[in-house]
Amino acid sequence: MSLGFDVLDVLHQGKHSAVFRARYKNEIVIVKTHPLPYGTPSEVESLEREYKIGRLVMSNSAHVPRYLQIVSHQHDAKRKAVAIVMADSKGQPLSSLIPAKGFPLDTFLDIAIESVKGLRDIHRHNIIHKDVKPANMVWCTFEF
Ligand SMILES: Nc1ncnc2c1ncn2[C@@H]1O[C@H](COP(=O)(O)OP(=O)(O)OP(=O)(O)O)[C@@H](O)[C@H]1O
Ligand SMILES: [Mg+2]
Repeated sequence: MSLGFDVLDVLHQGKHSAVFRARYKNEIVIVKTHPLPYGTPSEVESLEREYKIGRLVMSNSAHVPRYLQIVSHQHDAKRKAVAIVMADSKGQPLSSLIPAKGFPLDTFLDIAIESVKGLRDIHRHNIIHKDVKPANMVWCTFEF
């Protein structure tokens, strides 16, 4: 990748975003970027906005990813690449963990309580998430 990452795992490849587990400066990190190699202006803006909000909220929340850095490369006047670097919590998207018959009640309640705490921390900054769903929640079983 032109931004200096070695991709180890592809976690998500969508129409407007890609998420990798990657090696960056000898650390294993999570990288969120646009479809490579360059982002459209709205993809770039969306990543920059997410990073700004993520940094703000993580300052007083253990319930959002640790946003470490945003890296960018302006190739020419029209082509820009941007990537958000996050700590690897070694969590899994909640959407991939839901058993066919649903979680046992105690697990469900644990997840519900932690999810509400995350939303509380976001709302404290007068930010509304607007896309709360299991695919947008990373569940990790330990503090990091
Ligand atoms: N920190 C992470 N750890 C593990 N997997 C992750 C992480 N961040 C994202 N993912 C995976 O990548 C997927 C896409 O990430 P994300 O939801 O941030 O992007 P998006 O859906 O394109 O953007 P948005 O939800 O902001 O519209 C998630 O559903 C999840 O599977
Ligand atoms: Mg998502």
